[in-house]
Amino acid sequence: MTNDKWWEEAIIYQVYPRSFQDTNEDGFGDITGIIKRLDYIQSLGVNTLWITPMIMSNQEDNGYDVIDFKQVDPLFGTKEQGKQLIDEVHKRGLKLIYDFPLHHTSIEHPWFKEALKGKDNPYRDYYIWADAPEGKEYPSNWTAELGETVWTKEDNGEQFYLHLFMQSMADLNWDNPQLRKEMLGVLDYWIEQGIDGFRLDAFIYLSVDKTFPNHPDEKGPGTEMVEYGKKLDSYLHEINSAVKQHEKEIFLIGEATSADAETTRQYTDPDKDRVDKIITLSHFPEKTDQLDDRLNQEMQWAPLDFNAFKQIQKEFQETVPEKGGPILFWNNHDEPRHQHKYGNTTDYRDNSQMMTAALLYLQKGIPIIYYGEEIGMKNFVYNNVEEMDDAEANEFYKEAEKLGWSHEKIMQHLSLTSRATSRGIMQWEDSEKIGFTKGSSPWTLYNRENQYNVLQQEEDEQSILHFYRKLIALKKNELFTHGNYTLHDSPKNLFIYERSFRGEKRWVYCNFSDRKETLELSNECAAAEVILANKDNRVDDRKLELSPYGVVVFMK
Ligand code: GLC
Ligand code: CA
Repeated sequence: MTNDKWWEEAIIYQVYPRSFQDTNEDGFGDITGIIKRLDYIQSLGVNTLWITPMIMSNQEDNGYDVIDFKQVDPLFGTKEQGKQLIDEVHKRGLKLIYDFPLHHTSIEHPWFKEALKGKDNPYRDYYIWADAPEGKEYPSNWTAELGETVWTKEDNGEQFYLHLFMQSMADLNWDNPQLRKEMLGVLDYWIEQGIDGFRLDAFIYLSVDKTFPNHPDEKGPGTEMVEYGKKLDSYLHEINSAVKQHEKEIFLIGEATSADAETTRQYTDPDKDRVDKIITLSHFPEKTDQLDDRLNQEMQWAPLDFNAFKQIQKEFQETVPEKGGPILFWNNHDEPRHQHKYGNTTDYRDNSQMMTAALLYLQKGIPIIYYGEEIGMKNFVYNNVEEMDDAEANEFYKEAEKLGWSHEKIMQHLSLTSRATSRGIMQWEDSEKIGFTKGSSPWTLYNRENQYNVLQQEEDEQSILHFYRKLIALKKNELFTHGNYTLHDSPKNLFIYERSFRGEKRWVYCNFSDRKETLELSNECAAAEVILANKDNRVDDRKLELSPYGVVVFMK
């Protein structure tokens, strides 16, 4: 298949650099730390590394609030170390993806400081400014992350700037050709440095209707009013063509939180030159009927709606099977770790970690494994909200308390919904600072656990770590990358699918429940061989007994 792109077979490992490995003993992970652990990453069998931003940032949004797009943040290291990282990654035959936070900058960015100097400043128009209509407090009724207005007045009281996310992050004005040129220059720079792909952060909000029409509700999220705006397509074409002019094949993944399968298909259509892949959060439908509708839904825990989940998996498999298929992931730095949320970390921690991984990643598509997932790291459970350092969690706490929720109840929910819970430091060993640092205290609270650390799992053939290695090796088989996919009808808590390629077949049987399940195998399966399984399953002639959170993969 000569037209294949390298990413069609990518298996991605995501590193959150603050939390991976500290080497200069300041309690923050750093570039040298990532270099030190590259052999480990390679040993997993993955072929691509995605590292969230290490460019100069105000660090209020951990790298997504940029101050300089081309400098390495001293928190992580130097330019030379950055270069060395790229070389060391490539030496090991891995590809490297960086974030490109192209939607906003920190208000500490020199462009914004210039813009504040007045309407005549050439940088003014790099951002989005507006006046409030007569008799109105703000230019529109749009709200930002915490339900507050997206508009902040500059100090001299003249105009408002737009910030869809945080007040300290001003939205860039992609209508300005000079700004676009600068941003394309940033991409060129990093491609010259050797980066193989980019995650376009929050790209669906790049094109803003400058008439700022009000949200139909009395107040409502600005993001809903600007997503997939009119000129988005043309901006994507510009990015795409600039990037594709380089000789190297550069991979573009766009973050589109709300995209369903059809939107994903449209934005990744190979003939449309937009992006190559989409990361969406719509894979995880929840049963929301028990939620308190007076409070932010996203900060309340709700169980996975398993039937809807099955349906959505099927839809993505069928709607976007081309060029490597959909992106497959359970976890990232914006979500709590899934295990805690949807699996069972109390009684079946190992099995539920292994089963959920196999279920998702053996489908067609490109897996993204979030650091620590491969050893079954779980969320950090916070006892009080201040320690979370998560503005949304704080806001939720205040609101829930007003409605009479108990402290315990609020914290129980936040432990399963706040993104702070999944950003804990990597559990390398069970020593005091778990192998993350020798120096001062790590920047965040963390779990110290026997058995759930790299060192101990390396020694144990039955560990989650070993299972992930086997799973990744299996995934590399072209049947799993290029083969067909059929989801079988199955009883409620089971997830069963078939993959086939050039006359060969594999079946993946998963039990997404804490009860044992017994089922009858088809003739074909009964004659097949087991090539991967987690703990305590039994195959007895035609009978398959799946343990709680069991998974068995057959090959014919
Ligand atoms: C993206 C990032 C997230 C960040 C947000 C705003 O969604 O993944 O971490 O907070 O953009 O910059
Ligand atoms: Ca450090």
